[in-house]
Amino acid sequence: MHLLEGRHHIVIPCSPGVTPFLVRELRDLKMPIIDERSTSVTTKGDFTDVLRLNLNLRTGQRVLWRLAAFEAADPDQLYDKLMPLPWEELVAADGYFSVTSVVDTPTIRDSRFANLRVKDAIVDRLRRCCGRRPDSGPLRDKLVFHLFWQQNKVKFYLDTSGPTLAQRGYRLDPGKAPLRETLAAALVLASGWNGAKTLVNPMCGSGTLAIEAALLAQNRIPGLLRQAYSFQFLLGYKNMELLSLQAQARRVSRPDRKTRLIASDIDPQMIKVAKENAVRAEVDDVIEFVTCDFAQTPVPEGGGVLLCNPEYGVRLGEEEELKATYRRFGDFLKQSATGYEAFIFSGNRNLLKEIGLRPARRWFFDNGGIACELAAYPLYAGSLIKPEIN
Ligand SMILES: C[S@@+](CC[C@H](N)C(=O)[O-])C[C@H]1O[C@@H](n2cnc3c(N)ncnc32)[C@H](O)[C@@H]1O
Repeated sequence: MHLLEGRHHIVIPCSPGVTPFLVRELRDLKMPIIDERSTSVTTKGDFTDVLRLNLNLRTGQRVLWRLAAFEAADPDQLYDKLMPLPWEELVAADGYFSVTSVVDTPTIRDSRFANLRVKDAIVDRLRRCCGRRPDSGPLRDKLVFHLFWQQNKVKFYLDTSGPTLAQRGYRLDPGKAPLRETLAAALVLASGWNGAKTLVNPMCGSGTLAIEAALLAQNRIPGLLRQAYSFQFLLGYKNMELLSLQAQARRVSRPDRKTRLIASDIDPQMIKVAKENAVRAEVDDVIEFVTCDFAQTPVPEGGGVLLCNPEYGVRLGEEEELKATYRRFGDFLKQSATGYEAFIFSGNRNLLKEIGLRPARRWFFDNGGIACELAAYPLYAGSLIKPEIN
């Protein structure tokens, strides 16, 4: 059977905390859940599903198609098991591929050596059967293979995405301290916002939260924005299936759906960047951008969701300054956001305490190696606002 035929395990890595949202997305796409881990979810499907997942997923990092699973005790056994596979079905003899890996096995000290043995196996097979050899190197913009080797268990994948799916294609200028698009999408999903009510996003920075929210509300899939995936470099790949899946997605998107999103930032340069990003994401007509201090952000009557990612300062001395900002933000919520549910994403628990409200719910994430949380504060009229207990 051709390496791309049949139903295979498909692994989707994600960042810590995102798993429940990724599982929900997969269920919505009618994919089975085979395994859930803190940083990945495994499903099963055919190669058309691989394309669908690459196009549709908002919270997954990449889509890995399992090509082989076997045991290997050392690099020579790894080479011996990989070399006989028909790599000529996937890699053009004059093509290019790269190898990534996660390796934790006693015979390998430097994972680059494992990558080298993988490269040797694929190149040697192609040289033998085609008389020519493909190039290999670190660039992940063409074919990418991924080795997962733990103790003596090897799982070998085609990384069908290449560059992470967080790279939607709309954010050319990330601004300062941007959220990864996949994490921003998970935060919007956690807030439960569905476009029916207003979404207010003070301190919007480059606009990632507001843009991901707008894409979600209008059912626009990320794959309509991104141009390149690793699977497009497979030998004999034809764009027809991708184009037809994109056309299907366009038919179910609702760019005319009216929804109200307000995004503000004190920095006019950030508002400029956010607007440019929204134009590229084709959602600039649904987001009202305002340059102002967060306390002046318009909060329309009628309630909704207020979602915010304030700075949380990692350098010494910043925390004291930011405490005043968080205290003032808490006052803004209490005075101006009645009827809303506020969600604040921060990497500093001490600062969140300065909000002066007790979170009704918290979700835990990781943002660039920093443990972060999303805290929910219902501010409904008449709801008891309890102070945070230290
Ligand atoms: C952590 S960044 C937000 C990043 C954003 N989530 C993104 O993905 O780009 C925090 C933003 O808060 C803004 N900010 C800081 N103090 C502010 C204030 N007093 N009023 C409004 N915005 C403020 C900064 O200009 C910065 O853009």
